[in-house]
Amino acid sequence: MEKTEKRIEELREQINYHNYRYYVLDSPEISDAEYDALMAELRRLEEEHPQLITPESPTQRVGAAPVEAFGVVEHLVPLLSLANVFSYDELLAWHRRASNLIPGRSMDFVCELKLDGLAVALTYSDGRLATGATRGDGYRGEDITQNLRTIRSIPLSLRKDAPKKFEVRGEVYLSKAGFEKLNEERAREGQPLFANPRNAAAGSVRQLDPRITVKRPLDIYIYALGWAEGNVPPTHWETLEYLKSLGFKMSPYNAYVTDIGEVENYHRHWLEERENIEFETDGIVIKINSLDLQRQLGVVGHDPRWAVAYKFPAIQATTRLLDIGISVGRTGSLNPFAILEPVSVGGVTIKQAALHNEEDIRRKDIRIGDTVIVQRAGEVIPQVVGPVVSKRSGEERIFVMPSRCPACGGEVVKPQGEAVARCINTSCPAQIYELLTHFVSRPAMDIDGIGEKLAAALLNSGLIKDVADLYPLRKHDLAALERMGEKSAANVINAIERSKDRPLFRVIFALGIRHVGAETAELLASHFGDMDGLVKASEEELLSVPTIGPKIADSIHLFFREEANLKVIEKLRKAGVRLQEEAAKAKELPLVGQEFVVTGRLEDFPRSETEARIKELGGAVVSSVTRKTTFLVVGADPGSKLEKARALGTRLLSEEEFLHLLEEANK
Ligand code: IVH
Repeated sequence: MEKTEKRIEELREQINYHNYRYYVLDSPEISDAEYDALMAELRRLEEEHPQLITPESPTQRVGAAPVEAFGVVEHLVPLLSLANVFSYDELLAWHRRASNLIPGRSMDFVCELKLDGLAVALTYSDGRLATGATRGDGYRGEDITQNLRTIRSIPLSLRKDAPKKFEVRGEVYLSKAGFEKLNEERAREGQPLFANPRNAAAGSVRQLDPRITVKRPLDIYIYALGWAEGNVPPTHWETLEYLKSLGFKMSPYNAYVTDIGEVENYHRHWLEERENIEFETDGIVIKINSLDLQRQLGVVGHDPRWAVAYKFPAIQATTRLLDIGISVGRTGSLNPFAILEPVSVGGVTIKQAALHNEEDIRRKDIRIGDTVIVQRAGEVIPQVVGPVVSKRSGEERIFVMPSRCPACGGEVVKPQGEAVARCINTSCPAQIYELLTHFVSRPAMDIDGIGEKLAAALLNSGLIKDVADLYPLRKHDLAALERMGEKSAANVINAIERSKDRPLFRVIFALGIRHVGAETAELLASHFGDMDGLVKASEEELLSVPTIGPKIADSIHLFFREEANLKVIEKLRKAGVRLQEEAAKAKELPLVGQEFVVTGRLEDFPRSETEARIKELGGAVVSSVTRKTTFLVVGADPGSKLEKARALGTRLLSEEEFLHLLEEANK
């Protein structure tokens, strides 16, 4: 029996240590399998000797059954809140006020990131986690001990020399990645989504059933010692170091600074790097380092004078969704967007925001008239995150996608398995505008001087009904348009003229065929050599072009079945736009139609050069072996591609054979 007890003790110590390495330091020393083996052994011994189970055992993180309601925890020392400043001037004013109250004393500071989660207080008694509570009103919080126990970075027991009784404070949060994962799961299960990581963390911690909390990827950073029996370090920075040595998880972003100017630098730095921080922050917290000065400065209302939050611009705000508008994209996609009551988010007024597609609107249950959360984060276009359901009046309307295109009245279809509804009328004016600006853009026909304004003017004046109408334009047509001088009109005409000799792939790309980007256009141009070949190609022939799959083939085929599109091509031809490859015909390149995959290391030249040489000779290089692959070039230490190629019966080439093939092709 004594031996068993000893082994159990040993196992718990080891497991606690490895938990600490994994969850607190983020640097495990053993594999998951080894860890699991230790846990399994401990579980088995505890099952055989249930009288030896203690609440601190690492097997007991989810111990308790669900509760009806949370109990109350009184905070021995109230949990304060923080005053906010929003600019360097306001920060300097805070600093000046504090300095004036303690004349002649110099001060240093600790800068921390302000985590956007949920404040909690943990008390320890005789080295064991005793209670875990929310902040509540600062004096009394909710007892959420059972839920906090499920967070692996919260130690259940501490080393022997820890203070007999003390309380630490920190922020429970969900990382951005954890939040995304949780919401994806909820979407799959048809559950309402959380608006942001903060709400998700708060909701998870306030679960009545710890078996649900344990499944949420919650974490914690400790940022203060609330109170302690016995001696404590004289500064905040040393307190943080001390808490770290006790095994608590501390934020790696904490910084010690001696000058208020450095605080400004810290703020600016992390505002710029905000996207790269793994959790959401709404600013930084500045704390005067000396605990003695903290005591002298004291509190005003609920806010300490010795600390302040220096906020980042907000990324979210709530406002009313007045209506849902529809814009028609270049390829006919009907894109719903939110028309909002103007609201300021981080200093920018927002009137419109993205709504993705119909399915997304339904999934998030966004209704016209709702109060919604809007967000401006890394992305350029603000997003509607979701509705605030509690603010509904019952007057809200469910959105329905129109069955006719708002731009041309044409039919709207929704291809099976696709989330996006489309207008299939190719002469839809909404599409022509987008198509025209695409057609003249740099990677397409590269016609300089036709910006958005001129494109709109050309369409509005009726001079242009499709992209081919550009070519018969004369200088006087343009000069007659508003704000168009003789000189710029001449420049545009010249640019149009020059575009007649663009390579075939650019013309193909410029047509705006769905799923045909510049790279695919290049493949098509070199495979077919001229536009006629492409226009007449059957789906089967299209599928024989390397890297072209059914989706692209289908889209190209549909495009050229449309009478209006064939007319445009005829007009382009008549206007003198070159619709075939230049003199050195691609068809004559020796490796046209052959697809290469390379695996392993080649001795003679690097991968990039290998690929360049294949492409120069008209071949295609792709990354994975499929039925369409002609050759797999096998270098040293080949990967799994070799097995795949063998299974498919793909022809294999050694490096030597490959070199030989290149030489032959070059002849
Ligand atoms: S110190 C008097 N440090 O911000 C000190 N708070 O309004 C008050 N918070 O509810 C707390 N990160 O949960 C402190 N590094 C940090 C913090 C932080 C986030 C939260 C805290 C509190 C709120 C203060």
